[in-house]
Amino acid sequence: MEPSTKPVARSSRDEVWTFFRQWLRRPLSTAAVSPSSRFLARRMVAALPAGAHRIIELGAGTGTFTRHLLDHGIAPADLLAVEFNPALHDYLVARFPGVQVVQADARHLRDSPAVRDFARSAPVQAVVSGLGLLAMPRSGQREVLSAALDLMDGDGVFVQFTYGPVAPVHPEVLRELNLHAVRRGFTLLNVPPASVYTFSRRRAVPVPTISA
Ligand SMILES: C[S@@+](CC[C@H](N)C(=O)[O-])C[C@H]1O[C@@H](n2cnc3c(N)ncnc32)[C@H](O)[C@@H]1O
Repeated sequence: MEPSTKPVARSSRDEVWTFFRQWLRRPLSTAAVSPSSRFLARRMVAALPAGAHRIIELGAGTGTFTRHLLDHGIAPADLLAVEFNPALHDYLVARFPGVQVVQADARHLRDSPAVRDFARSAPVQAVVSGLGLLAMPRSGQREVLSAALDLMDGDGVFVQFTYGPVAPVHPEVLRELNLHAVRRGFTLLNVPPASVYTFSRRRAVPVPTISA
């Protein structure tokens, strides 16, 4: 019999408590006291480009977005989740048996053979990020975005939430990487309330030539 790829049920109390314990241990990198709400998860999924079916998730935590990506119809084999914290990595492995979960630093995605192989074996259309990007220094934002966008073709989309009032990437980083930011949605039903942005590469506009 094939092993099941169905997510293992977890009570929301178990999820919140696991997340909170990790926040006590690593408040800076965990970046939130509790997991994102299902309302924010729905907004993240709604921001995916049409037809996106192969996804990399960064900073998956206890798996709120992972769960909603699977519910949206992403096949477990077409989802790779990256989580830096070893305890949360193990939690995700146990909760999502069919999903490839990699313990890696999202700033150094290129160093992970598992991530490189996943992106090489078939095209990835979106990277969904649960990272606390707003709190990262510019250098960290640059590393995360450039590594993530390098894993996709020119149409690839980076989906990110923020608790702040503007796009969570410094304008200088947007300029350097030639990125276009679009606000896709907002929900009050998250602690704290959050907006969702997408980042994608600006298209080169062809310059008309004048023939003599
Ligand atoms: C704000 S929490 C979001 C968790 C989950 N996506 C959610 O929305 O509930 C950020 C997560 O990113 C992870 N993280 C932080 N820095 C990371 C890094 N450099 N690479 C990979 N994961 C990271 C943290 O361990 C934490 O699980």
